[in-house]
Amino acid sequence: MEKLIIKGKKEISGKISISGSKNATLPILAASILAHQVILKNIPLVKDIFTMVELLNFIGLRIKIIKKKNIIKINNNDNNINTLAPYKLVKTMRAGVLVLGSLLTKYGKAKVSLPGGCAIGTRPVDLHLFALKKLGAKIRIKNGYIIAEAKEGLKGNIIKFPSISVGATENALLAATNAEGTTILKNCAIEPEVKDLITFLKKLGLIINLKGRSIIVKQRKIKKSQIVHNVIFDRIELGTYMIASALQVKNNITINKIDPKIIKNEIDILKKIGVKIKLKKTSIIIKKNKKLKKINISTKPYPGFPTDLQAQLMVLLTQANGVSKIREDIFENRFMHVPELKRMGADIEIKNKTAIIKGPTKLTGAEVMATDLRASVSLVLAGLAAENRTTINRIYHLDRGYEFLERKLKSCKAEIERV
Ligand code: UD1
Repeated sequence: MEKLIIKGKKEISGKISISGSKNATLPILAASILAHQVILKNIPLVKDIFTMVELLNFIGLRIKIIKKKNIIKINNNDNNINTLAPYKLVKTMRAGVLVLGSLLTKYGKAKVSLPGGCAIGTRPVDLHLFALKKLGAKIRIKNGYIIAEAKEGLKGNIIKFPSISVGATENALLAATNAEGTTILKNCAIEPEVKDLITFLKKLGLIINLKGRSIIVKQRKIKKSQIVHNVIFDRIELGTYMIASALQVKNNITINKIDPKIIKNEIDILKKIGVKIKLKKTSIIIKKNKKLKKINISTKPYPGFPTDLQAQLMVLLTQANGVSKIREDIFENRFMHVPELKRMGADIEIKNKTAIIKGPTKLTGAEVMATDLRASVSLVLAGLAAENRTTINRIYHLDRGYEFLERKLKSCKAEIERV
């Protein structure tokens, strides 16, 4: 099994380009079921994207990945469509459940494996099903599968989500595209990735308006013409490299191909901690900071601080002066990086939903184990800041979501090897 070996405490400097967003590409791929011909640009070459492509191939779409250009070309001629998403393809990547909305609204039926729980929490799909039922779908669960039908088509409705979910908002939005009349979705997730999905759907000819946390969708015929879409940058990858830079920058690191407006809140938080950040139109420069300061924050739906950056921020706070607190408000079990960080010398205590981090502490290299995507990358960050050698096992989690991680860090002179 592959491992990452990091020789820490090496100062880094240089340039990093941010890849396209995995979490924006996945729902747009699911939305491509609704289209005829799609060209997606700026897609990240990561495992989850390949799994989604495999799923769409299984469903009957014709797909070509042009790796050198980070492009995916998709054709759907509606022939030999299989409205099934099997367990083997949904179990490793929850976003597979997003094909439910597209299949149901276009073909009137879908059989999609329940994704099940995962390391960071139970992660149910009740909110997805709640919305689809409100649109008139008949849904039953049998042998681990969601079996959904809408023989007469779906019907527009007003749906208020009891709590905010990115995936449920996306699934409901996809289903609403061909629901009769108008659908109003309330209390939606408004993450930049949801907005990118809306931009894509509008290119298909749909009329969609976003007002606050409400999304209004009007049924329209999908255009037959070829759609070209450039996926937005990965704001979580950006946040990760901003934190890596804050930990180990020598002079400065320039992070390119981004839009700072999209992560304004994260930038403000890092500035409060004492990270030196200079903003340009499409790049961010991180400079060497002096003392880092403690902070108390909670993870929240966008525009709040993202749960997907919680583990990485925690590593930074081990180097800040004083006692910081991070409350995890999105997932119930997302502190699995903590025991590993403690093995590297971090002083962290968990009380219910809150991690209490005492800093600054000297981190020292150790053999550690990755448990999920973001926890894994937090260990990479800790390894960069730690003395001596850190070995990270089970790095397949990292490959699900970070494109060319070692290559990007090495280009900034970090000592990191995959063995
Ligand atoms: C997406 C992101 C993931 C991110 C998460 C929260 C993708 C592919 N993944 O995941 O990286 O960490 O948003 O920003 O975009 N919930 C329910 N019932 C449901 C659905 C969700 O109770 O039917 C709960 C979840 O257990 C969780 C919370 O709602 O506690 C938020 O989850 P959700 O926003 O749905 O996350 P995902 O869409 O799965």
